[in-house]
Amino acid sequence: MKFLVTGGAGFIGSNYMHYVVNKYPNDYFVCLDALTYAGNYNNIKDLEGKENYKFVKGDITDREFIDKLFDTEKFDVVINFAAESHVDNSIKNPAIFLTTNILGTQVLMDASLKYNIKRYHQVSTDEVYGDLPLDRPDLLFTEDTPIHTSSPYSSSKAGADLLVGAYHRTFGLPTTISRCSNNYGPYQFPEKLIPVVISKALKNESIPVYGTGTNVRDWIHVIDHNVGVDLIVRNGKVGEVYNLGGHSERNNLDVVKTILKQMGKSEDLISFVEDRKGHDLRYAIDSTKAEKELGWDRTYTFEKGISETVDWYLNNTEWIDNILSGEYKKAYSEK
Ligand SMILES: NC(=O)c1ccc[n+]([C@@H]2O[C@H](COP(=O)([O-])OP(=O)(O)OC[C@H]3O[C@@H](n4cnc5c(N)ncnc54)[C@H](O)[C@@H]3O)[C@@H](O)[C@H]2O)c1
Repeated sequence: MKFLVTGGAGFIGSNYMHYVVNKYPNDYFVCLDALTYAGNYNNIKDLEGKENYKFVKGDITDREFIDKLFDTEKFDVVINFAAESHVDNSIKNPAIFLTTNILGTQVLMDASLKYNIKRYHQVSTDEVYGDLPLDRPDLLFTEDTPIHTSSPYSSSKAGADLLVGAYHRTFGLPTTISRCSNNYGPYQFPEKLIPVVISKALKNESIPVYGTGTNVRDWIHVIDHNVGVDLIVRNGKVGEVYNLGGHSERNNLDVVKTILKQMGKSEDLISFVEDRKGHDLRYAIDSTKAEKELGWDRTYTFEKGISETVDWYLNNTEWIDNILSGEYKKAYSEK
């Protein structure tokens, strides 16, 4: 089968590319990425030369380009990881989030319909469910939890999810959606909490923590997320939504302290800053459906995953420095 994977130079997409290209030598994977500031060709450079893989630079919102690509490549499956993904950016500039996350999804689905794609998978987020109270640990998001968003980012992802549902029901597009909790692991752009903490701590710089650091996230290793996406794409039921969660709720301050401890750095580096506007309090996912229907499970505990992740960044300081200096932008050159 031939797969189009969009956003494959980003954090989760690049981990996905490594996973599937190596696991399925008889399938063919085209990685499409616009290489925005968050796309880093270094994340996938080592896949160059693999027989079942190629990289294409391009924008999912470019209708003409996407149509041509589908016409030429004859994909069987489309997996859409491409998105603007940073909540803080969405608060400063919502427009690009609506364009990429909603209209880009529409462009991909229109092409998927026109070229009779066998499966369109939308990579979504638990943030579409809004947040949960801190004092109700019994409450979890299920696939039936109403959409109730807080940020322009989550609203744009929810808009895309609703459109995916509509394309399935109205036009019969064979879709699936996965909604996952907060990911951590290698190749995460140093604007998100965990790589920010590590890169600042390495330089003994102050580490900003929003509010009092009590916001809770359900942390999942990126590999566990990607195994779930792959299972949904191959075995999930058309028209369905599947939640994927880490079963590892931690508040932000605990996460920061865990990392500092492993790095042998002082907690004095922590500096509490003004809270993010509309900051969601708690996310927690019930992934029983994916576990029961697809046999999906996590292989990482938070302790093992975070420890390996910190080690990865410490062993790859060049990767971070390359981003901080802007050098990573030169990693891809048109042939
Ligand atoms: N990071 C998380 O914890 C998390 C959790 C759940 C779901 N998600 C979802 O997973 C997906 C990937 O997230 P991520 O953290 O890897 O994001 P990321 O920002 O690291 O990567 C996004 C990638 O998409 C590419 N891209 C952006 N606009 C594009 C466009 N118009 N055309 C083509 N490519 C474009 C970027 O260049 C980048 O490589 C997103 O859809 C996100 O909403 C993320």
